[in-house]
Amino acid sequence: KKTIRDVDVKGKRVLVRVDFNVPTDENRQITDDTRIRAALPTIKYLLEQGAKVILASHFGRPKGQVNEKYRLDQVAKRLSELLGQEVAKTSDCVGPEAEAAVAALAPGQALLLENVRFHAEEEKNDPEFAKKLAALADLFVNDAFGAAHRAHASTAGVAQYLPAVAGFLMEKEISIMGKALANPERPFVAIIGGAKVSDKIGVIQNLLTKVDTLIIGGGMANTFLKAQGYELGKSLVEEDKVQLAKELLATAQQRGIELLLPRDVVVAAAFAPDAEHKTVAVGEIPADWQALDIGPATAEKYAGVIRQAKTVVWNGPMGVFEMDAFARGTEAVAKAMAECPGTTIIGGGDSVAAVEKVGVAEKMTHISTGGGASLEFLEGKTLPGVAVLQDK
Ligand code: 3PG
Repeated sequence: KKTIRDVDVKGKRVLVRVDFNVPTDENRQITDDTRIRAALPTIKYLLEQGAKVILASHFGRPKGQVNEKYRLDQVAKRLSELLGQEVAKTSDCVGPEAEAAVAALAPGQALLLENVRFHAEEEKNDPEFAKKLAALADLFVNDAFGAAHRAHASTAGVAQYLPAVAGFLMEKEISIMGKALANPERPFVAIIGGAKVSDKIGVIQNLLTKVDTLIIGGGMANTFLKAQGYELGKSLVEEDKVQLAKELLATAQQRGIELLLPRDVVVAAAFAPDAEHKTVAVGEIPADWQALDIGPATAEKYAGVIRQAKTVVWNGPMGVFEMDAFARGTEAVAKAMAECPGTTIIGGGDSVAAVEKVGVAEKMTHISTGGGASLEFLEGKTLPGVAVLQDK
């Protein structure tokens, strides 16, 4: 894909779609500014090149209506601090005020438009609305990997009316994850966890055409264990997915892919941080107990495989890691990834929180800023926000 390096941006009005959908607390304070920092290389480059930078983002799900809770003022403030220069903010993303603010921009200045989701037309990818956004600029840059799975006006629609190229974050996300999927150094190991198989069927199916080893953990492992005939007690099992789990196990076997499942688990008497708990073999889960983490023998086995890998992709925790008693498995995977000399990729979502909690984020080759977008990328889907960008 073409990037901002391939086009002349000097003096141009550049509409940059970013994903500033950051987590906030009850006082609307930003609790994690990773996504804002991740967009800085693109923004700084454009400013240095003398572009007039017009930033657009969604924030939360205000359902097409103005909602004070979802204004981007805090984000503009944080961005100004990070850039070391004032970033103006409009109170609407289109209309006379936005037009005037853009007209007042000098080269090397940036402004942030208000939440694009205050207009229902955004998520409908309404052409008239996309045209209005596009009219603010001469060039469209998509740097919002995290929103690239959405075919909305500001992520895809505007590209009908403006030349469209990738920003540096978008380029990095799709090149690192794209190479891992298309041309990985082997052994290629994927670790998939999280509560439910149903959330990740597409990901598992796609990875079963690529990896050498697929490691399964978290709640979803229960459904696979059930498919192998184990009794899971009170553990979360998706009964309607047991058949599918059987098919996935058979597929892995046919293709000669090693599929690893827990051999021991940490079981608890209740789903609570202080619940009584113990480690048992998967064949010995008591009828009234539930599995909430992989056991130490399993964690050691998984860690060994991960350390030997040349490419590793991880999405989803190995247990209920928010509860300390059930965090060991997830921590072991995070540590093993940190020790792996190969390419290590965290495919977004809860696993990002896990590597941060363990303090090994710096050791990873790449931590994706996408949640849903990473999953769809790992499923092998074409993301609408990527598809609209010009090819080199
Ligand atoms: C995310 O947080 O995953 C992205 O910003 C997309 O948000 P959405 O799921 O509300 O479209």
